[in-house]
Amino acid sequence: MKAAITGLTHYLPDYVLTNEELSQMVDTNDEWITTRVGIKERHILKDPHAGSSALAIPAVKELLEKTGTCPEEVDCFICASSAPDYRWPSTAAIICDACDIRHAMAYDIQAACSGFLFNLNQARAFIESGLYKKIIVCQAEKCSSFVDYTDRSTCPLFGDGGAAALVEPTDDDSIGIQDAVLYTNGEGNDHLILKAGGSVNVPSHQTVDDKWSYIYQDGRYVFKNAVTMMTQTSGEIMKKNNLTLEDIDWVCTHQANKRIIDAVRQYVGVSEEKVICNIEKVGNTSSASIPIALHMAAQEGKLKKGDTLLLAAFGSGFTYGAMILKWADCKI
Ligand code: ACO
Repeated sequence: MKAAITGLTHYLPDYVLTNEELSQMVDTNDEWITTRVGIKERHILKDPHAGSSALAIPAVKELLEKTGTCPEEVDCFICASSAPDYRWPSTAAIICDACDIRHAMAYDIQAACSGFLFNLNQARAFIESGLYKKIIVCQAEKCSSFVDYTDRSTCPLFGDGGAAALVEPTDDDSIGIQDAVLYTNGEGNDHLILKAGGSVNVPSHQTVDDKWSYIYQDGRYVFKNAVTMMTQTSGEIMKKNNLTLEDIDWVCTHQANKRIIDAVRQYVGVSEEKVICNIEKVGNTSSASIPIALHMAAQEGKLKKGDTLLLAAFGSGFTYGAMILKWADCKI
């Protein structure tokens, strides 16, 4: 029994924040952002009272409709978010409530930008063990909520978005999740962190003054580790599964920086035509970045049943890893 993605959707909020507009807000310019990061625009949820759930609810509703799934059939719902609505209740509980999903074991996971792969691997384990049969893997990311729009080194990088996938069992070995290698190496913790909002630094004047509710990152250190860790695990999973470069139809990595995507591609040795990349128009949407890129590629007619995809992710933690996925008949 394998676990296959049988439905996939995404949602982006309407407002588009361009490099030109950012240049009016901080000391930056389109040329720097385009050459150093590869992003031209990103979508932003402007409503200050709407959280990450608002970005996933439309995706989940569309997923239920497109796959003909009744809310009561969903038996497990896992939500990844780097920007949960609250510490509790879980963002999964909020999304399920809005979508009338009331008979699922619904909960959040925290694996930052690697959330989609961690989420999928968990769904895969539940499906392969026979515990659950209709699992929604959801990514909800209002990244703009942790971005300081006076900090030019981080504000161009992120966008908001949501995505949802239906994961179901299949006895067709030629499709579905084939394998995954996923790790967490906490040595990176201090280099990519949101210091406030948890139980260590509870809200105070100091956390506001020190801007601890915004992302802190050591950009160069994160960059190097993202390239190394995604490259290593991509090589590891290919070797483990006796795959050569010819066996790989598509590569889709976390969309953090076009130069990171290019470096991983070059080190792995894959040609540029095989790379799925939407960073120019979407930016870094954390755990939602890979499923949004996959969904857009599927909508463009790129992905065919049986295609072999190499997925690689990296995020705070450092969480990282790679997955081999064979594309199924997927409702998009
Ligand atoms: N516009 C103009 N100049 C800028 C900007 C900007 N937006 N940002 C930085 N600069 C300047 C810096 O001040 C510096 O100037 P200086 O040389 O006079 O000091 C110069 O550009 C170079 O700065 P670097 O930080 O060395 O630039 P770099 O090429 O490393 O790019 C970046 C910075 C884009 C942040 C890069 O390091 C990167 O992408 N890192 C990885 C980010 C990432 O993947 N984060 C993961 C977050 S995901 C998650 O888990 C939440």
